[in-house]
Amino acid sequence: MAQAVLYTPHPNQKLIHNCINNTEHKYYVINIGRQFGKTLLAMNQMLYWALNERKIKIAWVSPVYRQSKKVFDECAKAFAKRPEIYRNLNRSDLIIEYITGSTIQFFSAERYDNMRGFTFDYLIVDEFSYVHERAWTEVLRATVLVRGKKVLLISTPRGKNHFYLLHQLDGINPQYKSFTMTSYDNPMINPTEIDDAKLTLPDHVFRQEYLAEFVEGGANIFSPFFQSENGGTKFYGGVDLGRSNDYTVLSILNEKGEQVFIERWRHDSWSSISKRVADKINEYNAITYVEVNSVGDAIFEQLQSLCNTRENLHPFITTSKSKQDIIESMAIASQRKEVTFLPIDWLQKEFEVFTFKYNPKSRNVNYGAPYGFHDDGVMASAFSFESYKKLKSSGEYYIT
Ligand SMILES: Nc1ncnc2c1ncn2[C@@H]1O[C@H](COP(=O)(O)OP(=O)(O)OP(=O)(O)O)[C@@H](O)[C@H]1O
Ligand SMILES: [Mg+2]
Repeated sequence: MAQAVLYTPHPNQKLIHNCINNTEHKYYVINIGRQFGKTLLAMNQMLYWALNERKIKIAWVSPVYRQSKKVFDECAKAFAKRPEIYRNLNRSDLIIEYITGSTIQFFSAERYDNMRGFTFDYLIVDEFSYVHERAWTEVLRATVLVRGKKVLLISTPRGKNHFYLLHQLDGINPQYKSFTMTSYDNPMINPTEIDDAKLTLPDHVFRQEYLAEFVEGGANIFSPFFQSENGGTKFYGGVDLGRSNDYTVLSILNEKGEQVFIERWRHDSWSSISKRVADKINEYNAITYVEVNSVGDAIFEQLQSLCNTRENLHPFITTSKSKQDIIESMAIASQRKEVTFLPIDWLQKEFEVFTFKYNPKSRNVNYGAPYGFHDDGVMASAFSFESYKKLKSSGEYYIT
């Protein structure tokens, strides 16, 4: 490498740089586990291009603005110590111009429309599997069609999505070269740290995030079984409250773990929503968990006052830990068909897209809908399952 920046690549990073710089492929699809040093590798590769070639245009794309800005800031910070290598830093447009006349511009794939019409010599997309497929097919790919020399698509897998498909092209299309490495391939990480993560994470999460395996349905937490209503004698409810953007959803299961009722409401007053929820709880005499985080106690009390049996209602406070617990226990039960759901379009869709994000900093898994989707139906189902499970295991209902 030329005198780039602050960085001595570890042997596995070096291997990838060598391949990029000494082979003639166009697309390098780099699939590697967390904390390998992917982002640092890509930053340094892009600086290598910027400092060794004249008047070229390079684009850096991250899924969201915050990530892209962070990489810009890190580059800017590094150059503060090396004023001889850059000409200009444009902090509002996130462009760095080097003494070679080459530029690097930073973008986020959230607003991929902003990139229409650009052409680049080099393109780097970090966390590619979290970039919307359409950002790639409709915009990004076209920016390197004419002048494009090399494209780095770097990521940890996310199920078998568009990143997986491109990764499969190695050996089929000579323009593509793929890599797979794991977090263990970073010799700077103590392997026992990764072993620890293995103990605390669900198996499919660990294999995807650290071993970079394209886990079948890796992004699909649930494989729910849907069946029509069967009636019942005892009922357990779960309510996820929401009013404007989000829905209020009530789910009710019978004593066999079969969903017998689910409905959602929004764009209405709290008193009207509460009334409809309470009417159904009364109709089924369902022992019900109500998630109270988002709206507080007032709505819970209102609901309680509308219920024939006040003791039927119990507050549920979600934390990232309790959310993880109830989702994972419902996921396991749904695989065993110990809980089944009503075949309703919007609910099926919610189950399909429901996913997790692994946060390497906090080392937590956060479950939820991808940005722009709903998960209130899944959550209400999970609260009703929790109510069902508590009673079943204890034989009695304890107020918590
Ligand atoms: N060759 C290296 N020399 C020194 N530090 C390194 C090297 N490679 C990576 N690191 C450090 O290891 C940490 C992880 O690097 P980086 O963020 O690039 O990894 P990543 O694979 O992109 O991780 P993630 O999957 O979480 O995005 C950073 O603190 C980075 O500075
Ligand atoms: Mg990274």
